[in-house]
Amino acid sequence: MPGDILEVDVHIPFEPLRKERGSALWSVQKPFFESEARYPAFYGGRGVGKTTVGAAKFVDAVLRQPMEALVVLPTDKQIAQKSVLALQEMIPTECVIPQEKGIVHATKGLIEVHFGLLGRPEGELSRIWLRTAENPNAIRNLEVGIVWMDELQDIDEYTFTDCVKYACRAPGTPQQVFSTFTPPRDESHWVYKLWLNPDRPHKERYPTWTMETKDNYKLDETLVQEWYEDALDPLTGEMSASGRRELMGQVAGGRRQVFPMFGEIHVRPIPYPEPQWKRVTGGIDYGMGRRATTVIVVAEDQAGRAVSP
Ligand SMILES: Nc1ncnc2c1ncn2[C@@H]1O[C@H](COP(=O)(O)OP(=O)(O)O)[C@@H](O)[C@H]1O
Ligand SMILES: [Mg+2]
Repeated sequence: MPGDILEVDVHIPFEPLRKERGSALWSVQKPFFESEARYPAFYGGRGVGKTTVGAAKFVDAVLRQPMEALVVLPTDKQIAQKSVLALQEMIPTECVIPQEKGIVHATKGLIEVHFGLLGRPEGELSRIWLRTAENPNAIRNLEVGIVWMDELQDIDEYTFTDCVKYACRAPGTPQQVFSTFTPPRDESHWVYKLWLNPDRPHKERYPTWTMETKDNYKLDETLVQEWYEDALDPLTGEMSASGRRELMGQVAGGRRQVFPMFGEIHVRPIPYPEPQWKRVTGGIDYGMGRRATTVIVVAEDQAGRAVSP
């Protein structure tokens, strides 16, 4: 097996996942799958297995004990559908209450699924709610034991802090909110602040695991190669910001990656031969998001005119 990605044995208490995935998660997926922290997250580039491990962790939880459980998805239906399909694929059909089979009734951001639990007496049901960020207030009146937020970078902060955190409080349940996401565009994004900022407080409540797209050996090799080539900047030949984010799972445009020693804009006078210039000032304009980082030099001549060479 190429790279560092090992298959590891994880106890998954239901057959269909065992059959389909060969009973294995990858070694980087496993600690996330097993984490009991309050807000763990698995993030990374396109196709690294975020939705797969998220759905596995979720289904594992609802089959372990009967509970109300919630999946929160971005508003975009196309994106949301992928997570629902992964979930559907992983839930053993014999667990679904017959009249609810085929899952999903969807109305405007509200989707609801009912499941019975394997090997449990009828009546001890887990119930899965699906909600999109379109209707965050419909989350507040739920009382659930576990929450999975997929594509978290496209869900807003209000949905998490004011609705999801509040709803995840059912007594005697894991009371865990776990997430899967692609890194946001820059460090001002709320997801960066809570899960990626190396200086974030409460790290132990927000642990993260990650993996790069090229390390998923299950993906078509030619396709992955094409993705990586396509992500190169045509001018410099280097990996573009979107490639770093979408394939390598890095936050693009991060200040720390450009000048790790600076945390702010520094401007200082530069000693320069008089009499030509009265004053020469240099500074660095840090590029955030898609903007480039720039070094600026401004000179003032004897008449007080500013020139930017
Ligand atoms: N542990 C695993 N074992 C085998 N295949 C996996 C595993 N995790 C993910 N995959 C496969 O990798 C592909 C991408 O996974 P997916 O979860 O859709 O990625 P993401 O959500 O990160 O884009 C899928 O075909 C999925 O079945
Ligand atoms: Mg996904």
